Amino acid sequence: MKFNRDFIFGVATSSYQIEGAFDEDDRTPSIWDTFSRIEGNVQDMDNGDVACDHYHRYNEDIKLIKELGVDSYRLSIAWPRIFPEKGKYNPKGMEFYKNMITELKQRGIKVAVTLYHWDLPQWVQDLGGWEVRENIDLFLQYTEKCFTELDDLVDLWITHNEPWCASILSNAIGEHAPGKKDISAALKVAHHILLSHGMVVRQYHKLGLKKQIGITLNLTPVYSSTTSFVDKLAASNMDGYFNRWFLEPLFKGAYPMDIVNLYAARNCNFDFIKDGDFDIIREKCDFLGVNFYNRSLVRFDPMSLILCSGAHSKYNKTDIGWDISPNEFIDLIKMVRARYTDLPIYITENGSAWLDVLENGEVKDNERINYLELHLQAVAKMNELGFNIVGYYYWSLLDNFEWANGYSQRFGLVYVNYDTQERIKKGSFYRYKEIIEKKCI
Ligand code: FCB
Repeated sequence: MKFNRDFIFGVATSSYQIEGAFDEDDRTPSIWDTFSRIEGNVQDMDNGDVACDHYHRYNEDIKLIKELGVDSYRLSIAWPRIFPEKGKYNPKGMEFYKNMITELKQRGIKVAVTLYHWDLPQWVQDLGGWEVRENIDLFLQYTEKCFTELDDLVDLWITHNEPWCASILSNAIGEHAPGKKDISAALKVAHHILLSHGMVVRQYHKLGLKKQIGITLNLTPVYSSTTSFVDKLAASNMDGYFNRWFLEPLFKGAYPMDIVNLYAARNCNFDFIKDGDFDIIREKCDFLGVNFYNRSLVRFDPMSLILCSGAHSKYNKTDIGWDISPNEFIDLIKMVRARYTDLPIYITENGSAWLDVLENGEVKDNERINYLELHLQAVAKMNELGFNIVGYYYWSLLDNFEWANGYSQRFGLVYVNYDTQERIKKGSFYRYKEIIEKKCI
């Protein structure tokens, strides 16, 4: 199957997961620095103090990106490097991104920048973080600086990465920083993140800037484990909780009423929604970013918040335990096209974790190659169906700090030896390079 000549092949990373240099050039802690220092939050008490030391090795990493042959590189900016304190802009932090992005552009690589990939400054969290509506102004102060300093060099702006993770997973489930377990707080966070997205897009347009801007959602197609009525209810709830809660405000201007009712029955109130908010959230973007890893198979569970739990699935799984489900990837995009939007779609993340073994200087990661091929075939198929997928970013360039899983899960095309910081290209690196060269899978 062939890809169009203008299809964008890419590779993605994020700041906290690779940069290290946690206290250099005036950077102050993010919520992940704080969270990872508390026992029980991150596997093996790993943290991002050093990570892949990308802050010092970005030149070497850009060479890898160039060798891979991708058209575009997706990175994120660490807000605490740019504003280490309230109202204090830090040019040194900006300099790092300017230098790196300049280097990428000189090598002919397009750049996609995520403005928020979860490393909220701890000082903002101390002011109530995303739960406090007024704190959106602090985000706008930061994004304006990024726009005025970097827009010339950037091709694609992504306001937020995966609002479901930044709100629910982080504030209701407590698995990610800041580690709260409070659904009411999480819904406020979700709302303010969505609102900030719309405000940032408006700010961007007001500044008269013309590059592409959009948001990235993590979406999962949901299936009921049986045909029973209650299992189907569970599937519908899961879809509402994970997908529709974000898609509906962005494209239809409201939260899904079935899930609003469910939360209301759990004593959540919705005072945080103000008149006009949905008009802001719906501000027109240039594209939708979708991160896809796996499908969800679910069953009814009367004890759970949304009356739903994961069901046993017979599908083959990646090392992190996620179903390998490329056909369902097609179902998902079909659903997005049918119900929500005809904006161009970028797959801003897709990839898989495996127990890579370094043997005689090589990593033969055939499972990762297989996963990559299956998902790129699915993307090619989607385009045959007319779904207008304009680009695909593999997650990730390097093995890196995989959030609550620490360094135990390796997603990279490049193996990182964390003792020596040596980078070793895996089999999948060469296979992806070949696919990009041929524009064919
Ligand atoms: C996504 C995150 C990304 C990475 C992958 C595996 O949810 O956006 O940072 O951790 O999962």
